Amino acid sequence: MSDDVLSRSDEPLTSSSGATRPHRVPSVAPGLPSHYYADPAIYEREKQALFYVKWLCAGREEELSEPGAYLVRHVADEQVLLVRGADGAVRAFYNVCRHRGSLLCESAEGRFPGRGIACPYHAWTYGFDGRLHSTPNMTWPPDADRGDYALHPVRAECWEGFVWITLGAATPPLAEELGGLATGFARHGVARLRRGHRIAYDVAANWKLLVENFSECYHCPTVHPELNRASHYLGGGAPPKEGERAWRGGGWMDLSAGWATLSIRGVRRRPTLPGLAAEDTGRIYYNTVYPNFFLSLHPDYVLTHTLWPVDPGRTRIVCEWLFAPEAMAESGFDAGDAVEFWDLVNRQDWHMCELTQIGNRSRAHRAGVHIHQEGGAHYFARYLLAQLGDGDSWAG
Ligand code: FES
Ligand SMILES: [Fe+2]
Repeated sequence: MSDDVLSRSDEPLTSSSGATRPHRVPSVAPGLPSHYYADPAIYEREKQALFYVKWLCAGREEELSEPGAYLVRHVADEQVLLVRGADGAVRAFYNVCRHRGSLLCESAEGRFPGRGIACPYHAWTYGFDGRLHSTPNMTWPPDADRGDYALHPVRAECWEGFVWITLGAATPPLAEELGGLATGFARHGVARLRRGHRIAYDVAANWKLLVENFSECYHCPTVHPELNRASHYLGGGAPPKEGERAWRGGGWMDLSAGWATLSIRGVRRRPTLPGLAAEDTGRIYYNTVYPNFFLSLHPDYVLTHTLWPVDPGRTRIVCEWLFAPEAMAESGFDAGDAVEFWDLVNRQDWHMCELTQIGNRSRAHRAGVHIHQEGGAHYFARYLLAQLGDGDSWAG
């Protein structure tokens, strides 16, 4: 059914001499049934099989710069509170008080004053390690143990300066889930990069449409004339197979001749990241960790997207631009070229995802198809169905 599509797409799109290969006659394979993009029952199953189980990238460690600094992330219907402890560790908890279940934090980010997390309702107060410290205006009964009322923990790990969370108690360690991606880009030194810009988008489309869109460049000539000029959609190398793993990466797109970075004019305004190999300076590596993280490594900056589904038809996407700290310290530092370019490309993508969301509601459209240039999207569809246990019933 689908191996044919995958194997074709996994072949390099350029010959060893760099010349673009001619198009092959495309084969087609079934896409996801269209109701998968809107059905509340499917969304509920995705929460249980993916968003409440898998590792999710929550942001950058630098956002939790000092003890008491916190972030709140919405994981579908759950809220997770991340906080830096006095010991320097980053911990995560459900954003829920153990007394009667009030949310602890209403803000998306900030810093707790003092040394604890105080519930806004009856002022039960927790340490940054989650332990219950004080319960004002009550006498703690002798037969009850305050130790039983610590905040519900959420697992958190850090990788390359990113903080990751999982609600899954039995989920394998992050490095295991990241596989080859965990060490594949060590030369880019992503851990030391700093955030130069951030934009959050609210997109009226199912989260899977955004993943599929990021996974193929078949749409680039039509939707992204600026991107296609800077980096031709057929130029680059395709990613290795990784079975039904939670990530897909290693593939790259080449910069066009005369382009030194991805921007409207292609003029690079900052040095390449230290440590890159010579071939890296002409490539952008695109990686996806399912279900919520896109990592794009450019010669002189790194771009990330994190996806946060709101409901079956809406997704919040946070896009961040990371730069070398020494480049940011330069007096003339300006992230505008990279921000302008990707904000344009992002909005072009979101618009097509929103049109596809509407079109998939048509009773005339039962399911789409993936052609040979959409191997990444097809790989994701197979991964998703395997996670939902629906792989065997996939007839297209
Ligand atoms: S609900 Fe938090 S202290 Fe009462
Ligand atoms: Fe796109």
